[in-house]
Amino acid sequence: MAKAWIALVGLLFICCWSSTMGAEEHVLYKDPTKPVDKRVKDLLKRMTLEEKIGQMVQLERTNMTAEIMRKYYIGSLLSGGGSVPADRASPKQWVDMVNTFQKGSLSTRLGIPMIYGIDAVHGHNNVYKATIFPHNVGLGVTRDPALVKKIGAATALEVRATGIPYAFAPCIAVCRDPRWGRCYESYSEDHKIVQMMTEIIPGLQGDVPANFQRGTPFVSGKDKVAACAKHFVGDGGTVKGINENNTIVTHNELYSIHMPAYLNSLDKGVATVMVSYSSINGLKMHANRGLVTGFLKRKLKFRGFVISDWEGIDRITYPPHKNYSYSILKSVNAGVDMVMVPYNYTEFINGLTDLVNKKAIRIQRIDDAVRRILRVKFAMGLFENPLADYSFVDKLGSKEHRELAREAVRKSLVLLKNGKSAKSPVVPLPKKASKILVAGTHADNLGNQCGGWTIKWQGQEGNNLTAGTTILKGIQAAVDPSTKVVFKENPNAKYVKSQGFSHAIVVVGEPPYAETAGDNLNLTLPNPGPKIINNVCGAVKCVVVIVSGRPLVIESYVPKIDALVAAWLPGSEGQGVADVLFGDYGFTGKLARTWFKRVDQLPMNVGDKHYDPLFPFGFGLETKPSN
Ligand SMILES: *[C@@H]1O[C@H](CO)[C@@H](O)[C@H](O)[C@H]1NC(C)=O
Ligand SMILES: *[C@@H]1O[C@H](CO)[C@@H](O)[C@H](O)[C@H]1NC(C)=O
Ligand SMILES: *[C@@H]1O[C@H](CO)[C@@H](O)[C@H](O)[C@H]1NC(C)=O
Ligand SMILES: *[C@@H]1O[C@H](CO)[C@@H](O)[C@H](O)[C@H]1NC(C)=O
Ligand SMILES: *[C@@H]1O[C@H](CO)[C@@H](O)[C@H](O)[C@H]1NC(C)=O
Ligand SMILES: *[C@@H]1O[C@H](CO)[C@@H](O)[C@H](O)[C@H]1NC(C)=O
Repeated sequence: MAKAWIALVGLLFICCWSSTMGAEEHVLYKDPTKPVDKRVKDLLKRMTLEEKIGQMVQLERTNMTAEIMRKYYIGSLLSGGGSVPADRASPKQWVDMVNTFQKGSLSTRLGIPMIYGIDAVHGHNNVYKATIFPHNVGLGVTRDPALVKKIGAATALEVRATGIPYAFAPCIAVCRDPRWGRCYESYSEDHKIVQMMTEIIPGLQGDVPANFQRGTPFVSGKDKVAACAKHFVGDGGTVKGINENNTIVTHNELYSIHMPAYLNSLDKGVATVMVSYSSINGLKMHANRGLVTGFLKRKLKFRGFVISDWEGIDRITYPPHKNYSYSILKSVNAGVDMVMVPYNYTEFINGLTDLVNKKAIRIQRIDDAVRRILRVKFAMGLFENPLADYSFVDKLGSKEHRELAREAVRKSLVLLKNGKSAKSPVVPLPKKASKILVAGTHADNLGNQCGGWTIKWQGQEGNNLTAGTTILKGIQAAVDPSTKVVFKENPNAKYVKSQGFSHAIVVVGEPPYAETAGDNLNLTLPNPGPKIINNVCGAVKCVVVIVSGRPLVIESYVPKIDALVAAWLPGSEGQGVADVLFGDYGFTGKLARTWFKRVDQLPMNVGDKHYDPLFPFGFGLETKPSN
């Protein structure tokens, strides 16, 4: 009998012990074999309000510590434009930095990994020696979604090379007015081209499976990153192209021009959507419950998370009535799930906690936000692989990616003029010539050809910014060894006439800029561009290459120019320009923007009644390869 009792007690002990152990092993949310939504549900019910609110916070890496991550349960970090762990940091330094923060998050009670995001908008552009692809304005010209998908895949690898799993891209703005400082981030004024270019999303995230349900966040593996369709919605339609301003649209214009690419993005499983600073008919998008919750989440059934723009909620109110509590209330109730705070986390956390305790924000809204954030983190495998390793470091700026960027440059060039008539073409140029002149502020200037959002937020002129090939270097490499290439940035006419050049290539355009700093109401060709064109083109047969984020006012120069090329912002691989100028490849690009004559015509887009362009949307002369 005693023996039986001992056996029973022993059995009970083993049962209890093993079931406790079992509970350890079978924490549902940690089990990757369980469906994402079950894991989300299990984790959410374990979370305190403090832990939930922490998930909704995204902070900038500057001054951030693993201890802050742990203490406040911070759900996300970012690098703002130009925010790097060290000047010219190596991919390994990036990986180490991200992992340090991640370890802080993993050491919390529930061990929820944070998600690190960065603006990788034309390649992994904050990172030294990354491949810098052409800005979107050039990619629209290619009309080549398969190419753009490959660029997405290459960008994902370079972002992962630095230990980062999340890119704030693509920008699917439909820029309707080139006076906007972000127009170069837009693929086209035509929503159909923007829709086509959402193919970058499967490049970044991977291909969704058959019978995929629209709106489900989808990221397929460790070599892919979560993407972000931005900026929801109407960012490209503001009055006079003023950044962050008001987009005045009819219902039909909103849904037929600015909205369609969001449907494509959701069809492709985009994981996140970023809200626009701008307003629709006077209502700030960060406070627009009808569009964010009503349309995007309810009607389109978007199930990823909605992120604010940088201090985006702060812009809801203005001094002297600035009241951050009101900003939090309006934005969270509008449907913003994660807030790019990005610095003062105590103010945000205290403010949001207070609003929940006061029942001004319902706990159901917090749960919805956290559910979405966790869903993305589970879906992309972040719980299984929270820490990065060095396995992709060789992908950063790899030869293969630079070749892809060079191909994109070739296909993004638009030939606007080629000699007086089709019978007397100027390009392709001969590789063999006695002596040619290369001139202009943008001929030997990597920073200028990369534009804004390159290493620094605003970009920077000059050649020491990062690794790459200037257009001049590309020309020098393309010509026959017997051809003498003379570079003079700003030559006078007398010099040009006296040197016996067989022809000249003039490369001029806009300096780098980003966002509001790029807003421009005159769109003239910046100095000394006009003078260089006049001095060179009056003296010798010339090809002018314009490096700019948008069409500029150039009508008066065109008669003097023998051949004219729009190169947009080609990025780090300037040989792509030489490849086409010297006939290794033909010109194929077609304008994805209307080239207007005068700014008083703006806004003027294809299909408008008053359409009277210098070069119409879709225009682009072609050449055949000559070699
Ligand atoms: C980071 O810390 C330094 C030194 O305390 C301070 O001067 C700087 O303002 C901080 N930067 C941000 C963005 O908070
Ligand atoms: C638009 O810009 C004007 C002029 O700068 C400014 O007064 C106005 O507040 C802006 N509107 C919005 C909605 O940002
Ligand atoms: C901030 O705005 C809220 C909502 O409008 C209001 O209830 C609160 O009193 C304001 N707080 C301050 C400090 O003005
Ligand atoms: C951050 O917010 C807290 C709480 O509102 C405030 O006391 C503090 O001054 C703020 N700090 C900064 C740097 O803005
Ligand atoms: C790069 O050039 C800029 C401008 O000429 C200069 O201010 C900066 O110190 C240079 N940086 C390096 C690392 O050489
Ligand atoms: C055109 O506008 C830009 C941006 O505001 C300004 O920097 C530039 O000086 C203006 N150019 C002319 C010729 O007015």
